[in-house]
Amino acid sequence: MPKSVRDILSMKGTKKIAVITSYDYTTAQLCDKTGIDILLVGDSGGMVMLGYENTIPVTMEQMCFFTQAVRAGRQNAMVVADMPFMSYQASKSQAIVNAGRLVKAGADAVKLEGGAEIRDTVRSIVEVGIPVMGHIGFQPQTTTLQEGYRVQARTKDAALSLVQNAKALEEAGVFSIVLEMVTSEVSKIITESVRIPTIGIGSGPDCDGQVLVVHDVLGLYEKIKPKFAKRYLDLAGEIVKAVSEYRDDVVSGKFPSQEHSFSMEKPELERLRKELA
Ligand code: KIV
Repeated sequence: MPKSVRDILSMKGTKKIAVITSYDYTTAQLCDKTGIDILLVGDSGGMVMLGYENTIPVTMEQMCFFTQAVRAGRQNAMVVADMPFMSYQASKSQAIVNAGRLVKAGADAVKLEGGAEIRDTVRSIVEVGIPVMGHIGFQPQTTTLQEGYRVQARTKDAALSLVQNAKALEEAGVFSIVLEMVTSEVSKIITESVRIPTIGIGSGPDCDGQVLVVHDVLGLYEKIKPKFAKRYLDLAGEIVKAVSEYRDDVVSGKFPSQEHSFSMEKPELERLRKELA
């Protein structure tokens, strides 16, 4: 049985929650095998899969497409899908319709960026029965345009506002909150101030769980390398090495050898040759 909202809630204070992004069937399947708790179909897919500069251009169609693929690859993890920029801001009814589209595509829950200002939207999605994950701190859909990549909650006032946003989201019914690029001290305070799990990304060790973009974990995306994104592998380097070897083998005629080829039975080949002659 895949992990449920109840399972994730029960992990607060008892077991750390491991989350990784995923956008396609094969990667989702491999990540799921590891016992990861949540596969997050992030709108970061727009950058790492589609080559966009940021997440703003990502559409509902693209998110549904990624979500279908990830759902096909999961067995045990919960699938959470990002609601892309402008899919929930215009009206509550638009937000409900779009959250429903992601659920129909295979998501178990949706994630929205924003704090107290989106509490009514969050409440209306939760009320129709769709679990919601919050996302505060650095919010790529809006802060990228306004300020660029910046650590959040460095001052007392900014920290207080973040704590209030976390509480507003909890009150609106989210089952967990992503804290992105929030100072470690403030993440700890938020984690201790809410009953739901916090999932950190660049927000220190005291959150209830952690999330990273799978392309960063694998060392696959080279355009942006955030300080917080620990790279466990240099897959980009490995891919370039393997494809170069393959290319050289094709050019030199070393590939394909007999091992990778198919043959006819000799008598059949003889018959063919005779007929052609
Ligand atoms: O889109 C995404 O990948 C995210 C994570 C960075 C939390 O929102």
